Amino acid sequence: MTRTRQVLMGCLAGTVLSACNPGTTNATAPSGSTEQKADSVLALMTLGEKVGQMVLYNGSWDVTGPATGTDDRKKLEKLKKGHVGGMLNVTSAANTREAQRLVMENSRLKIPLIFGYDVIHGYRTMFPVPLGESASWDLELMQKTARVAAREAAAAGINWTFAPMMDVSRDARWGRIMEGAGEDPYLNAVIAVARIRGFQGDDLSAANTIAACAKHFAGYGFAEAGRDYNTVNIGEHELHNTILPPFRAAADAGVATFMSAFNDLDGIPASADRKLQREILKDTWNWKGFNVSDWGAIAELIPHGVAADKVQATGLAVRAGIDMDMEGGAYEEALVQLVEEHKIPENLIDDAVKRILRVKFDLGLFDDPYRYCNEETEKQELYSSENRQVALEAAKKSIVLLKNNGNILPLGNNIRNIAVIGPLAGDKDSPLGNWRAQAEANSAVSVLEGIRNHAPESCEITYAKGADLAAGTRNFLSPLDINDEDTSGFAEAVSLARKADAVILVVGEDAFQSGEGRSQADIGFAGVQQQLADAVTEANKNTVMVLMNGRPMDITDSAGKVKGLLESWFLGSEHGNAVGEVLFGKYNPSGRLPVSFPRHVGQEPLYYNRKSTGRPEGGEQVTYSHYTDVANDALFPFGFGLSYTHFAYGNIQLNRDSFTTGGTIMASVTVTNTGKMAGEEVVQLYLHDEVASITRPVKMLKAFEKIHLEPGEARTVDFVIDEDMISFYTINRKWEAEPGRFRLYIGSSSAETDATSFEFRSE
Ligand code: BGC
Repeated sequence: MTRTRQVLMGCLAGTVLSACNPGTTNATAPSGSTEQKADSVLALMTLGEKVGQMVLYNGSWDVTGPATGTDDRKKLEKLKKGHVGGMLNVTSAANTREAQRLVMENSRLKIPLIFGYDVIHGYRTMFPVPLGESASWDLELMQKTARVAAREAAAAGINWTFAPMMDVSRDARWGRIMEGAGEDPYLNAVIAVARIRGFQGDDLSAANTIAACAKHFAGYGFAEAGRDYNTVNIGEHELHNTILPPFRAAADAGVATFMSAFNDLDGIPASADRKLQREILKDTWNWKGFNVSDWGAIAELIPHGVAADKVQATGLAVRAGIDMDMEGGAYEEALVQLVEEHKIPENLIDDAVKRILRVKFDLGLFDDPYRYCNEETEKQELYSSENRQVALEAAKKSIVLLKNNGNILPLGNNIRNIAVIGPLAGDKDSPLGNWRAQAEANSAVSVLEGIRNHAPESCEITYAKGADLAAGTRNFLSPLDINDEDTSGFAEAVSLARKADAVILVVGEDAFQSGEGRSQADIGFAGVQQQLADAVTEANKNTVMVLMNGRPMDITDSAGKVKGLLESWFLGSEHGNAVGEVLFGKYNPSGRLPVSFPRHVGQEPLYYNRKSTGRPEGGEQVTYSHYTDVANDALFPFGFGLSYTHFAYGNIQLNRDSFTTGGTIMASVTVTNTGKMAGEEVVQLYLHDEVASITRPVKMLKAFEKIHLEPGEARTVDFVIDEDMISFYTINRKWEAEPGRFRLYIGSSSAETDATSFEFRSE
């Protein structure tokens, strides 16, 4: 199947209703509880109409204009008949209203469509890519940016986002690592919940909240060798202890929808995995929303080799518990027949349709199917200055200071001359990142602009690109054309570097180097950037590198050569201003890495919460787990990030050194800002279970708090340790707290070594 990501744009003049007409509601808006309402609608439906609800169409074909291809015409007719449940990639108040009108004015039961879209890190106003924003460790902030994204999307007719992605990912080669919250299950879980709350708000029926989607269920981030869509092999304990916790948290938080993953999991494609999709998600977790397949994932059961045709694929997916088929063409082709031939019981279809109807009722679509289509709100909401302020706040808080030798940063007021160098320095497009929804191309504030906006007036700013990074078509689907050879700009760059007091070198990845289908075997600098970095650092020792990227990169060589290093990810619309504020000390960086940075790509997958192998930790003989050519640990570990001030930690205090079933221990630590600048610290608590029924990670993040401290200020942070915190999926195949001793670390990163210990006794 070919795939286009274009968004439905063309509306024939005159076919669009001029205003939202609340009077045009459907005939099926019954009263009672959502459950009763869904039942009463279900009772009216034919089998064809039911199966239609389970079909999600892509909107790149022109539903509003003359549909030319036979397939397009067929799709249009199905839509009018009410045999489509929702559409994706139809955007704008006018276009969504027009598509909705086709259903409301032509179909028998007038069941409104749901409109889905990948609102991953903003709709028009762009926030940092999710991995970058996760570096803020600021849950309130992430809830806020999701809220703004939801408001913008809702104003443009969207009522369902395919976000957040909560795939734990530990492999920097995997391009989609940019879309999640990194390598840790706990961090992924709490961030997923914050984002869901932001999208869905307190009331899903409000016209400015949208349904969220927990994806990709499950294991997608563990693709072998970091190659997107690749086979996944994880054991049952890894699945339950590492992959599932964020999904469980999302289900408990009331996420409206789930999305099944493309990959197979120990031989069973996720979209045909009955144990996962039906038994765990719907039965054990008792989750009531609806489960959509990823794009074409049901039809892909055929190339996976577990189904011979769409009929068999449909049977597998329906039985597994996939309620809606995204652009797979399987359900619409085969499901009616399968039910009529009694090969699939109709109660499975009823369950799926009820789930979909419930979400539509919860969204308020039955009360007013056009409630999300309002051009006036759309005009006011998209890219408003308030929304851009939130984007600036998020961008600043997501920056991670990785190196600051000799306190080169912040740059002082008396600096006279700065050379800004690098292919990404003047780039107004890459900061928008991949998965950029409706962001306008080249609309971000570049680093160069941000530096000009925030440098002292007396400071001269010179600029040389030095090299190009990528040329040609750059979009979601096209392969990138990396410039591998042209060094003709080096001479100018070196000459400016020589004359400057300091150099800001902006290098990294093009926006479309990370994201879906963007796996890389080499995570170093693409093109001639490494040579450029070498030439510039040679010419000026006061070089600060600003990295722009969606994945951890191999920066070992350059990190050793530069004096300062700022990780800026793809920060969105206000990227440059955020970097400018940090470089000149208007904002004290507070980000911490949500993912480990390797010393070498060969260490991948690399993560702090590894297991102990059983072998010695080191020694004179070679027979321990290590590489002979590179150290085991990260260049920059999970949780790490510097500040312009310094935070001193006191000893960890426990109010008791053991607890029993139902009890707790309070762990406290006092943190003091011993520097001269106000700043924020992320106080992180890690546990290690010393002896357990299965092997346990050497450290596990279990809690954190981000605190603000004025110079000289001290704050005591308390953490409550309870059974929940020490529970895991044990050898008994259930979640339980096992008795025993635990090491407890509290500090500023996963590399923290200061520890105490406590005991849990079950009673
Ligand atoms: C991605 C999903 C996305 C969907 C719809 C798929 O290729 O894996 O994450 O939501 O497309 O665009």
